[in-house]
Amino acid sequence: MSITLTCTQTLRESDDTVTAWFDCSHPVTAKAGQFITLAVPIENRVHQRSYSLSAFDTERVPNAVRITVKRVEDGLVSNWLVDHCEEGLTLQASEPMGNFTLDSDAKTHAFIAAGSGISPIAAMLQELAEHHPNTPANLLYIVRHAKTAPLLTELKTLSVTYPQLQIKVWDTATIGRPNALQLSALLTAWEADTHYVCGPEALIDTVSKLTLNRLRMERFNAAVYNFETVKPDGAAITFSESQKTIEITEAETILDLAEANGIAVNSSCRSGVCHECKLRHNNPEAIVWLEEENALTDEEKKEYLLACCTTVAGKVDIAC
Ligand code: FES
Repeated sequence: MSITLTCTQTLRESDDTVTAWFDCSHPVTAKAGQFITLAVPIENRVHQRSYSLSAFDTERVPNAVRITVKRVEDGLVSNWLVDHCEEGLTLQASEPMGNFTLDSDAKTHAFIAAGSGISPIAAMLQELAEHHPNTPANLLYIVRHAKTAPLLTELKTLSVTYPQLQIKVWDTATIGRPNALQLSALLTAWEADTHYVCGPEALIDTVSKLTLNRLRMERFNAAVYNFETVKPDGAAITFSESQKTIEITEAETILDLAEANGIAVNSSCRSGVCHECKLRHNNPEAIVWLEEENALTDEEKKEYLLACCTTVAGKVDIAC
């Protein structure tokens, strides 16, 4: 965590969504589509969650970044932000990061967003409007109710000054969710060089099975790991620097286990991207990769793990 953010302005988009601007403590480098990880203290524990930038301004001093947060079921941090984010709130955050960014080789772009997936895409469309106003872009925005859809009014206003932007709003309350055939027909008609999709797992799975030109994807939900096949019986982690041994009774990520036991582990993206949580261990046989198996090479994995996307099924010492 390296930036201190101070909230300067909030906009209640609806009962369950807030958009907030934050001033940055020092200059940042950001690309449209990237995310930051916030450290949010709630009830004596700091929770880290990633949020895409829905806009940023790195021209002005101090630099400013904006996030748009929607209430979600069991979303402890998002729900806290919706309820408590107001001017003056300060939070620690990571530098912007991520690879879900504009394809500089594309001459036409097609975007599909649903729910909070609109955040990075809104930033990308602003970038196109500002720096590539002659580049055609189509947006399919899948919403539950058009009246309360986050950032929709702003995007419609943008399309006035950026007429190459065409927005199609798909209101699921009236016409249901689009199926694969409907999505395919729409995207085929748009003939974009590069496609971008951000939204719930089911949408991303559907779009990724379509035959499309270049496709870039971003899941906005934290990874939900399946621990069913992990047998933690007898497993234990000794955090050697903290001199704590934790017997594992229920499989969790090593990062969650460490945090729940008051052991500080650097982290940021919590999804295998940033490598902030890379730690040395002494037993590759005990490490179970839940996802992002390719984030480290096989050679590296003999000695290192990423705490955010591994758990243990044996005894292991971790240097932390
Ligand atoms: S926190 Fe980013 S890779 Fe683990």
